[in-house]
Amino acid sequence: MDKRVLQERMRKKQQQLRRRKMMKLGGYILAVVLVAVFIIKGVILPITNKISGKDADKPVRVEADAGKTADAEKTEPKKEEVKTDGTAAIRMPLASVSHITTASDLTSGWHKDENGKWYQNTDGTYYAGGMQEIDGQTYSFDDNGYIQTGWVSQGFDDLYFNEDGTYNPEKHKPRIALTFDDGPGEYTDQLLDCLEKNNAHATFFMLGQNVGSWESTVKRMTDIGCELGNHSWDHPEATLQGISDEAVIEEFQKTDEALMKACGQKSTVARAPYGAAAQREFDLVQKPFFMWSLDTLDWKTLNVESTVDAVMNGDLTDGSIILMHDIHEPSVQAALQIIPQLVEKGYKLMTVSELAAAKGVKLQNASYADFWDSSLSKGLVAGYDGPLLSAEAASGSEGGEGSVSDGSSEDSYDEGSDMSDGSSEDGSGEEYSDESGDASYDDEYYGDGSDEEYY
Ligand code: NI
Repeated sequence: MDKRVLQERMRKKQQQLRRRKMMKLGGYILAVVLVAVFIIKGVILPITNKISGKDADKPVRVEADAGKTADAEKTEPKKEEVKTDGTAAIRMPLASVSHITTASDLTSGWHKDENGKWYQNTDGTYYAGGMQEIDGQTYSFDDNGYIQTGWVSQGFDDLYFNEDGTYNPEKHKPRIALTFDDGPGEYTDQLLDCLEKNNAHATFFMLGQNVGSWESTVKRMTDIGCELGNHSWDHPEATLQGISDEAVIEEFQKTDEALMKACGQKSTVARAPYGAAAQREFDLVQKPFFMWSLDTLDWKTLNVESTVDAVMNGDLTDGSIILMHDIHEPSVQAALQIIPQLVEKGYKLMTVSELAAAKGVKLQNASYADFWDSSLSKGLVAGYDGPLLSAEAASGSEGGEGSVSDGSSEDSYDEGSDMSDGSSEDGSGEEYSDESGDASYDDEYYGDGSDEEYY
């Protein structure tokens, strides 16, 4: 064999070997890269997404704006009014998400995947993080762009969306106003913690003489959406009806001044000490006065269990007003149980003014004890200009309103029967029937020996 041929063969062999080595190396590199990609995509990304609350399977995450809008409006509650904000809910095309940009997914209209239903616009945008009207129906989209069903919180409000995602303005949770008297005091802050945690509001009927010691607590009430009520300066034993015009005015003015100093706001509503007031006092004080439909007698028993029982087994008809006293520790301990329990049962806890607005009542300088549909329909509630339904019609609308999602409170939430019996039972209706003239509360609160009672 020629030496040159031999050299040539050797060279080719070496070249071949080098090539094989290179290919092997390339294969290794490719394998390493593939493994790395697999690890990042399959393990690290899902973990980081989970940590940051994202789900890689869903469309791109976007910020929610509608909640903020609703939040800003919470000081002025409107009845079942939904604002859709188109610009807030429209998002950019999903170019970065591979499984959405396949040809079939790009068609506009409703789409469905394993995570739910979402809506694609013709320009590739989709709705997310707010409410949107589509074909005359209002839908709520979560932050990932999927429609929401059941109860959806928009700020303080809870709105109901049907199984198909459409908003149902007929449905509302049964609404209750918790009211707390004679504070603020050393336990009030705990109560505010609990209300805040449960997205609940309450009305505090405060004594002016207590406000100066708890100014930051009062300020916090307004910060978390609770309502300032005026319960006189020092709870005069003679009752408002036993003191002069000037003294009545001073009791409430001085309290409002203390509230102004604490938080820059006056009281919006009032409650008379011992519940003793009539038209003379309403006119002097120039505020709506509040009684109650459910008296827990917490001040008398000073017992946590019996106070909890009084509420949880009491008449919780939609529109009820519950009386408690945050100046007593057992009352506050009871409230810490009552609030989450009521929320869990599907009730919406709000201030008396929010309850009035939700029921279509424009508050007057008059007395209010409940906002039950039966009282409204009988024309017993001052400032209600809605339809005066007959009792049958009122109970007929129950289907739309009995909207407790878990149905656990149906025993207590029975508008039709409870209300018509209830209002005649504890006489809340009668208060209004003779509001024309003399002190209607005299008989009710003094005639039956209640002078020993302390409200
Ligand atoms: Ni009182």
